[in-house]
Amino acid sequence: MKIINVNTSKGSYPIYIKKDILKSSASLIKKIYKHEKICILTDGKVMSLYGKYIESYFEEEGFKPLIITVKEGEKSKSISTYENICKTLVKNGFTRSNLIVSFGGGVIGDLGGFVASTLFRGMRFIQIPTTLLSQVDSSVGGKVAINLEEGKNLIGAFYPPEMVIIDTNLLKTLDERFIIDGMAEVIKYGCIIDKKLFEFLEQLDRDFLFDNMDFLVERCVSIKKNVVEEDEFDTGNRMILNFGHTIGHVIESYYNYEKYTHGEAVAIGMSYITALGEDIGLTKTGASHRINKILDKYGLEKVFPPIDKEDMIKTIMIDKKGNESGVSFIFIEDIGKAIIKRMGKEEIIKYISNK
Ligand SMILES: NC(=O)c1ccc[n+]([C@@H]2O[C@H](COP(=O)([O-])OP(=O)(O)OC[C@H]3O[C@@H](n4cnc5c(N)ncnc54)[C@H](O)[C@@H]3O)[C@@H](O)[C@H]2O)c1
Repeated sequence: MKIINVNTSKGSYPIYIKKDILKSSASLIKKIYKHEKICILTDGKVMSLYGKYIESYFEEEGFKPLIITVKEGEKSKSISTYENICKTLVKNGFTRSNLIVSFGGGVIGDLGGFVASTLFRGMRFIQIPTTLLSQVDSSVGGKVAINLEEGKNLIGAFYPPEMVIIDTNLLKTLDERFIIDGMAEVIKYGCIIDKKLFEFLEQLDRDFLFDNMDFLVERCVSIKKNVVEEDEFDTGNRMILNFGHTIGHVIESYYNYEKYTHGEAVAIGMSYITALGEDIGLTKTGASHRINKILDKYGLEKVFPPIDKEDMIKTIMIDKKGNESGVSFIFIEDIGKAIIKRMGKEEIIKYISNK
């Protein structure tokens, strides 16, 4: 078993990574949590696949789990679902000393974490991420959130879990589309920080992806740990994790979060921004070709879809990381080295209009 400890301002938490660790999840939790009452938050799909197992693992350890199941999908990261979960917990006699376990993808992690961060001014919280994206990205770093109609993740908090338990075997039931989706983030880590990881992915036989999943998840978790430890509250270098995301958000929102998954949009964003970087002399020539090739290999889209340029600039300017002085764009100098470039509105208009 691999254990990676993440240090935060509130202490540190372990991330356990191992195939089949789900079976031991309740006993791991039992070591740090002594009450019987425990909430397992999950979604309909994960519940149908793993519900009876998880329930029995927790019962065998003497817990009395309350399983709350929400509908799968992004729409569950809403104020109304949040309210329903809070009410259910209150009705069932939960208090601030009780624990919520988010068992699902990034939606369940973000939603459960946000409930835990706010209900009773803070409950205990653990994540068991079940998608590739949530294992390599969203379960690490303490960001939790729900959406508003006006935008994604607008209501949120920094609320690190007490433990993250990653069972890479769970990925075997994931739809291919969500494996591909998560691979965009894996590729991103290679682009911004880890040239060796990028080269490994270039050489890997795609048919052996699963055999290498533990290695890939461990590597990505370690990279994210290092970035978030250095900048827990996202005021500086953590921004490099947004490589491909500013343009990706434009694509996701332009198509109402329906046509492209997050990873698909980020992939197009990485391809776009690297080509722009080469055009304006920030990025070494050839990086764009390598990124496009690797996106193709893992089944990700790279062609920028038809989007009105004015709409695009407008969306970029209201990106929540922007202010009057401009927006921070993440480019790469070359594979494995990210750079942050602050661009003013004039510059953005010039570059985007000509691209
Ligand atoms: N907090 C953060 O730092 C952070 C970072 C990145 C993304 N996110 C958030 O993560 C969310 C996206 O997460 P996601 O891509 O995991 O989506 P998701 O949680 O919606 O899961 C995708 C689909 O996979 C299904 N699923 C989950 N585990 C499965 C399994 N083991 N087998 C079969 N099916 C399974 C789910 O039911 C769902 O239908 C977004 O809301 C995004 O904002 C948060």
